[in-house]
Amino acid sequence: MDRFIDTELARLTTENMAEEMAQTGTKMYQFKGVWFADTNVQEEVLLRMPEWEARSDDVYVVSYPKAGTTWVQEIMFLAMNNADVERTKTGHTMLRIPYMEANIKRPNVARLTTENMAEEMAQTGTKMYQFDGVWFADTNVQEEVLLRMPEWEARSEDVYIVSYPKAGTTWAQEIMFLAMNNADVERTKTGHTMLRIPYIEANIKKPNFRYSSPQKILLMLWYMLKMMFRMLWFCMKEGKVPVGISPLSMSKILPSPRLLKSHLPFQLLPPDIMKKKAKIIYVARNPKDLAVSFYNFHKWMPMLPKYSSWDKYFDDFMAGKLCYGHWYEHYLGFWNRRHEENILFIKYEDMKKDHKAAVTQICEFLGYNYSEEMLDTITEHSSFSSMKKNPMTNPDSLFPKGKTPGKEDISFMRKGKVGDWRNYFTDEQNKALDETCKEKLEGTGLQFDF
Ligand code: A3P
Repeated sequence: MDRFIDTELARLTTENMAEEMAQTGTKMYQFKGVWFADTNVQEEVLLRMPEWEARSDDVYVVSYPKAGTTWVQEIMFLAMNNADVERTKTGHTMLRIPYMEANIKRPNVARLTTENMAEEMAQTGTKMYQFDGVWFADTNVQEEVLLRMPEWEARSEDVYIVSYPKAGTTWAQEIMFLAMNNADVERTKTGHTMLRIPYIEANIKKPNFRYSSPQKILLMLWYMLKMMFRMLWFCMKEGKVPVGISPLSMSKILPSPRLLKSHLPFQLLPPDIMKKKAKIIYVARNPKDLAVSFYNFHKWMPMLPKYSSWDKYFDDFMAGKLCYGHWYEHYLGFWNRRHEENILFIKYEDMKKDHKAAVTQICEFLGYNYSEEMLDTITEHSSFSSMKKNPMTNPDSLFPKGKTPGKEDISFMRKGKVGDWRNYFTDEQNKALDETCKEKLEGTGLQFDF
């Protein structure tokens, strides 16, 4: 804690920095006598560097900035990938080769204003807030990002996987990745699926403060002071410094066609996506299994609110008080546009019923007419058992058990089944959700297998 206070104080001496630095909103600070920009490397990350676990087969490119890093890293990448230039196309070099001190910050510093949330939520420090009537967790999606979504520039060649969380996003996105990469499984090895496919609303946060007027400077200083006290309060309460992984904000530099992920409801999705007619694959899942999967995900994901019981969680699920709001509003936003030529609406249960047919449908929608053999390769690689045992597709490898505070001993790749809801729902809860389905879906044509 002492160390934390020292470095925090050191950060506040930036008023003395050159005026042009202030204009970008960047704060320069010193750590062990070395200067850093907080928009690049956060001190919490530097404090945790001693915890970094190297592997004997790791390879590092290390340099002072501008010494030729990007050049050398690209040579190293090819050296380590059999000189196969095709593999460099799975992502920008900046994404394929993680920048370790800039990438291990998780946005969990600002989650300290939980006054209005249920007590069990407060335990994680996550702040839930509403944006346009939809709930979000500030540890996942920040309001500034949602406000800037209309600025998002889509490309007509873009492909988006969109869903309500836990509907089968990771499964569908892996199929889509292979569809867009010639069914070449080797290319999935260049990075974890969560890194290969940027999650747009969680990834586009940029420090965009402008110190354009004295009022804004004062406001910013006030904000910083508040943050400092919140952090101090957190440290005193928890006895530890909050730390995390900074979101990638690099999708702009990805080569086309980009494959991107979003959980935003239709009305909050960047309008440029529809304007450019970029392809969207929307995956939906029966709301009962969705609820159960999301419940377990709250336990798995350290940044999400924690619930003391299924019953308490279920109340919030029914009230739409979970990240991304009411499932049926989310689903209907896309279902009602399913006939648009750039939208494919698929269901988890149909993917389960006939996996290969779903793979074929996805490939065809994306414009690829593959051989049976290639379709089999994609199907095999994206089966539940393959994805579970593959560290590049199982998100567990990003949040290792026992090393991630707040994470329960549960896998992201949990059951991957239809019907697990029967192990959770009481008769009353089942009846209540049936009624919601009837009320919200009747007449829309949207139905599910349970
Ligand atoms: P369960 O929690 O029911 O097991 P998302 O990717 O949208 O977060 O969804 C996660 C859910 O999809 C989890 O459901 C996970 O197990 C399941 N899933 C992931 N990959 C799958 C696959 N290849 N086949 C079937 N289900 C899969």
